[in-house]
Amino acid sequence: KPRRMVAVRAETVNPGIRKTEDKVVDSVVVTELAKPTTAYCRCWRSGAFPLCDGTHLKHNKATGDNVGPLLLKKK
Ligand code: FES
Repeated sequence: KPRRMVAVRAETVNPGIRKTEDKVVDSVVVTELAKPTTAYCRCWRSGAFPLCDGTHLKHNKATGDNVGPLLLKKK
């Protein structure tokens, strides 16, 4: 069975949300968390997806994008 080839190119994933910010980061406060802060990936490039592993920094630098994680913080 032939494998389907998918063309991948460097491009931003954020077309227009809060583009004046260096990095778009949002926080949601929850009452029960195992850790004080958990970062969830929104750049779709993390090696630990759905958790953020910091790969968004490399993506932002390479493309001029400004994506960042969703932070869940223990109150
Ligand atoms: Fe994707 Fe951090 S690695 S947002």
